[in-house]
Amino acid sequence: MTVLATLWIYLISVCISGGNAQMVQMDPTKSGYVGSQVELRCLFVNSNPPVKISQVTWQKFLNGTKQNVAIANPTMGVSVLPPFKDRVTFKQPAVRHRTPSLEDTTIIFSNLRLSDEAAYICEYTTFPAGNRENMVNLTVLARPVTRMSLSTPTIVARPSSQKMTVATCLSANGKPPGIISWETALKGEAQTEEIRNPNGTVTVRSDYVVVPSRETHKQKLTCVVTYYEERIADSVFLNVQYEPEVTVEGFDGNWYLNRQDVKLVCKADANPPVAVYKWKMLNGSLPTNAEIRNNTLFFKGPVTYDLAGIYVCDATNNIGTRSGRVEVNVTEFPNIPPREIPQKEHSSGAIIGGAVGGVVLLGLAAIILFVFLRRRQRTFKGDYSTKKHVYGNGYSKAGGIPSHPPLPKNLQYPEDSDDEKKPTQIGGPMGFEVSDHDFDGEDLKRPYFTVDEGESREFDERTLAFQYGHEPDINDDMVSQTDGSVISKKEWYV
Ligand SMILES: *[C@@H]1O[C@H](CO)[C@@H](O)[C@H](O)[C@H]1NC(C)=O
Ligand SMILES: *[C@@H]1O[C@H](CO)[C@@H](O)[C@H](O)[C@H]1NC(C)=O
Ligand SMILES: *[C@@H]1O[C@H](CO)[C@@H](O)[C@H](O)[C@H]1NC(C)=O
Ligand SMILES: *[C@@H]1O[C@H](CO)[C@@H](O)[C@H](O)[C@H]1NC(C)=O
Ligand SMILES: *[C@@H]1O[C@H](CO)[C@@H](O)[C@H](O)[C@H]1NC(C)=O
Ligand SMILES: *[C@@H]1O[C@H](CO)[C@@H](O)[C@H](O)[C@H]1NC(C)=O
Repeated sequence: MTVLATLWIYLISVCISGGNAQMVQMDPTKSGYVGSQVELRCLFVNSNPPVKISQVTWQKFLNGTKQNVAIANPTMGVSVLPPFKDRVTFKQPAVRHRTPSLEDTTIIFSNLRLSDEAAYICEYTTFPAGNRENMVNLTVLARPVTRMSLSTPTIVARPSSQKMTVATCLSANGKPPGIISWETALKGEAQTEEIRNPNGTVTVRSDYVVVPSRETHKQKLTCVVTYYEERIADSVFLNVQYEPEVTVEGFDGNWYLNRQDVKLVCKADANPPVAVYKWKMLNGSLPTNAEIRNNTLFFKGPVTYDLAGIYVCDATNNIGTRSGRVEVNVTEFPNIPPREIPQKEHSSGAIIGGAVGGVVLLGLAAIILFVFLRRRQRTFKGDYSTKKHVYGNGYSKAGGIPSHPPLPKNLQYPEDSDDEKKPTQIGGPMGFEVSDHDFDGEDLKRPYFTVDEGESREFDERTLAFQYGHEPDINDDMVSQTDGSVISKKEWYV
């Protein structure tokens, strides 16, 4: 199958080339690294009957000018011209035979130089067909040399430090240029420049710029040079020197008389490490029983009032001196920490529990009152104006929907009424709600009060009688209950 296909392609190519059945086959492009070797292919496809090859010439074609590289002549032999003499050879030994075969004049180009980059022409001089030629473009590559370096072995961070280059990454003499990227947790920026060399290579230089500080110490910086599929990575760790960062530890706010073995410790973060610690009191001198050991101030014996004061620790390294301080006070008795406050969940739980309990109690009270009222109503069918019902719903769902349209809009007490007696918003949270479903089982939690005749008198003027849109959905013998209600905070608070 493939043999047939190959034959078919061959036949087509022969047909296309028509009468001039000869052609020169070459690769369109070829590339190789500096110092390596490449094979520049050149095949002469002869026709049948074959034409006579008079000479084969390889030429370098650059900037519009041609330069001979190598010549193969059937009678004169082979000639490789000086600049290429040591580096160019014909691949097929048959080219050099006394009766040479010049169909394959592929050359091997070794020890490539950047200056070899050019187009190379392979030209066949034939009789009687004339010249046939083709061309290959040779690209010479140069793998960049990568190098990473710290700008200085140690960087000194001072409070006044400005942005500075801490590391440099080079991708030198690459063709094409290597691509530099940085991988680091450091906050900083890369400043990259490209330098074109006369020989066609490019040197890429990237500086990593940061403001040196305590935080940049020991940070890792990785430079990655990407060149084709290659990734060349190199890492450094910054060494940043900084003055001490000082805190004084050891005072727990509970130094009481006769407490034993108290001490203060001067803690410093510094690079290089702190060389000298100095302790002093802000006013006066250190207590006589104080003993300094390295960064620790020990107090021998029991605590006395003499220990109180402001202690200062000066820590010094090569870069500078910084201080930490603590104010020590002495109490007569141990400072017993207050009992642990119950957690928020517990306290809110207790509140909820209490509220639920209250609701249950009020509900029970309401039931008892309700039963009591029913009893009374059976016997008392007279004047309801002296007997008002207060429906409190302080515990009802916030924003409960008043189920009796329409709502009275002028639910207000006269101007003279004091705040105590002002009604809260109807149906609003903590408000008093009048509902025709007050007797539903689920509404039992709404406390239901009956104001006694005597007490109710003071509310008479403020009684708000609601016109119900419909009869309440309750038992027949309860109808009379819903003719009016007293809404009163005061009642609620009873
Ligand atoms: C090619 O030509 C350019 C200008 O056309 C010139 O600058 C360059 O040097 C030439 N290169 C060579 C190898 O002759
Ligand atoms: C080869 O190089 C020549 C000029 O140097 C250019 O005109 C031609 O397009 C190139 N061919 C290929 C296949 O790159
Ligand atoms: C190209 O030139 C640079 C300097 O200009 C040199 O360092 C480098 O080695 C050269 N590269 C080659 C492959 O000759
Ligand atoms: C310490 O001395 C300063 C002045 O040097 C003074 O203002 C301050 O009140 C003194 N503090 C104590 C606790 O004596
Ligand atoms: C404290 O200082 C002594 C010398 O005075 C030294 O031998 C010791 O290692 C130090 N200890 C610490 C924890 O620095
Ligand atoms: C002692 O110091 C602690 C912490 O510094 C502070 O909370 C407390 O009020 C101080 N007591 C007195 C008596 O100054």
